[in-house]
Amino acid sequence: MDNEIIKVCGVWKSFGTHEVLRGVDLSVPEGRITTIIGKSGTGKSVLLKNIIGILKPDRGEIFFEGRDLTKMKNQELLELRRSMGYLFQDAALFDFMSVEENICFPLVEQLGLRDGGELRRRVARLLELVELPGIEKKYPSELSGGMRKRVGLARAIAVEPRIVLFDEPTTGLDPILAESIDQLIIRVNRELGMTCIVISHDIASIFSFTDRLALLYDGVIEFDGTPEEAKRSDHEILRQFISNSFRQIDSER
Ligand SMILES: Nc1ncnc2c1ncn2[C@@H]1O[C@H](COP(=O)(O)OP(=O)(O)OP(=O)(O)O)[C@@H](O)[C@H]1O
Ligand SMILES: [Mg+2]
Repeated sequence: MDNEIIKVCGVWKSFGTHEVLRGVDLSVPEGRITTIIGKSGTGKSVLLKNIIGILKPDRGEIFFEGRDLTKMKNQELLELRRSMGYLFQDAALFDFMSVEENICFPLVEQLGLRDGGELRRRVARLLELVELPGIEKKYPSELSGGMRKRVGLARAIAVEPRIVLFDEPTTGLDPILAESIDQLIIRVNRELGMTCIVISHDIASIFSFTDRLALLYDGVIEFDGTPEEAKRSDHEILRQFISNSFRQIDSER
C-alpha cells in the first residue's frame, strides 16, 4: 500500500448559494501520478486551490502527511507550500519579468537563495529539463503558448517540491505539444520522484500514464481507481465520460 501524502476528507465549498464541492473525499498516494477529471465548471480548479490552501473549505479537512492544513496559521501554511509546486490553468508567468526572473522568483522568495551564480546554474538546469535551454533573457510575450507552459512547469518544480499540481497543463495546445508536456510530467514523476496531481478534462490523453484516476462529478468524487479499474468499471457516469472523451479524439483525427 502506498503512503498517502494528501488526504481530502468531506470537503465542502460554496460560493454564495452555489455549492461547488459537496463532500469531496480523495486520497493521493505518494510518488504517483493522480489525475482528477471532470467536465468544465465542476470545481476541479476549486478543489486544487483548496489543496494548496489558497481557498479554505467551508467544511471538511485536508491532510498533508497527517497535518490538517485547513487549521494551519498563515505562517505554517507558507512553510508547507514550500513542499508544493503548482502550475495554474493559465500558466500565469509575470509578463514584466524575463524567463530567468520568473524562475528565480520562487527560489528567492521561498528558498531565500541570493547567490547569483547558484541561481543562474539552477535556472539553466531547469530550462534544460523542459527542453528550452538558453531562453533566460526572453520575456513571456516572446514565447509561444507551449513554451510558456514549459517555463511555468520549470518554475513550478524550481524549489524541488515533494508534490506538484498541474491544472490542465495541456488544454489549448496542439496534440504534439500536449504529448510533450505529458512526457515532461512523466519525467518529473519518474526521474525526480515528485508526486503529481494532474487536473484534466481529457481522460483519453492521461489514460496511458496516470497511476490513479478520480472523477469529480456534481461536487463529489464519483469514481477513484487505477486506469485498469476504470476500464473495467460499469459505473454509468464514468462510462459516459470515457466514451465521450474517446469519441472526441476520434472526431479530431
Ligand atoms: N472565486 C470564485 N468565486 C465565485 N465562484 C467561483 C470562484 N471560483 C470558482 N467559482 C465557480 O465554481 C465553479 C467551479 O469552477 P472551477 O474553476 O473549479 O471549474 P473547473 O472544473 O476547473 O472548470 P474548467 O475545466 O473549465 O477549468 C464554477 O461555476 C465557477 O464559476
Ligand atoms: Mg479549471
